[in-house]
Amino acid sequence: MGEVITITSGKGGVGKSTTTANLAVGLAENGKKVVAIDFDIGLRNLDMILGLERRIVYDVVDVMEGNCNLSQALIHDKRSKSLYFLPASQTKDKDILDKEKVRKLVEELKEEFDFVLLDSPAGIEGGFEHSIFLADRAIIITTPEVSAVRDADRVIGIIDAKSEKAIKGGEVTKHIIINRIKKELVDRGEMLSTEDVLDILALPLIGLVPEDEKIVSSTNAGEPVFYDKNSFSGEAFRRVAKRILGEDVEYMDLNKKSGFKGLLKRLFKR
Ligand SMILES: Nc1ncnc2c1ncn2[C@@H]1O[C@H](COP(=O)(O)OP(=O)(O)OP(=O)(O)O)[C@@H](O)[C@H]1O
Ligand SMILES: [Mg+2]
Repeated sequence: MGEVITITSGKGGVGKSTTTANLAVGLAENGKKVVAIDFDIGLRNLDMILGLERRIVYDVVDVMEGNCNLSQALIHDKRSKSLYFLPASQTKDKDILDKEKVRKLVEELKEEFDFVLLDSPAGIEGGFEHSIFLADRAIIITTPEVSAVRDADRVIGIIDAKSEKAIKGGEVTKHIIINRIKKELVDRGEMLSTEDVLDILALPLIGLVPEDEKIVSSTNAGEPVFYDKNSFSGEAFRRVAKRILGEDVEYMDLNKKSGFKGLLKRLFKR
């Protein structure tokens, strides 16, 4: 059976879809069979980051409503051969998802895929609860800002209260990714440090992703930054993918700004 990983956050716009796309590619590039599902009903986004928006015919709601088969709706990625994508519906009704239909779909996907990645919508209404309900693991994205961290803390509480695992007395595995780190601001004390964030959230880290303008250009090009061998953020996501697979990968030193080679030499242990 595959593992369901929900990528979520409290505050919107902190990088959930970007992370979902890059980790989906990352796990697929490590030989895993992966499906990424856009749970942001009404607002498509993951399709653009993956560069698959022109191939959409059916969506997740069509599958749940029985308008098509799962295999008709799944879009095979152009580049990563073991990656599939299931798009969000553009219906206006955010409450269209039904718990039992979501369960049926996710359970069907778990039988076929090693990893089922769920891109959670912004905020805690709409599809949010559906996206965390069946999670085996949650990756909580935050930026190093007080408002984002505070909202992340709230979401962690909801995962612990409302996920099926928690309801049955278990626990969803939870990790933090801090995204959009601007080292200069952290150094000047204008942004929370990694330690500050982890102190507040009291969960283990799985990724540190720098602010990187290559994320914007790669999204526009529909080519996740993971593929860009010379980008800092791509390297950060490559490492997160390995950590999800259980490898103990060192963290990049985001303190130094002397180019990629210099950065790679100055790795530090967790
Ligand atoms: N590390 C980064 N460096 C620079 N820009 C980034 C970074 N991460 C994300 N962005 C940009 O921030 C914006 C929001 O990212 P994204 O859509 O992934 O967030 P989200 O959490 O999925 O948003 P929403 O809550 O609306 O679904 C996008 O324009 C994206 O390109
Ligand atoms: Mg999103």
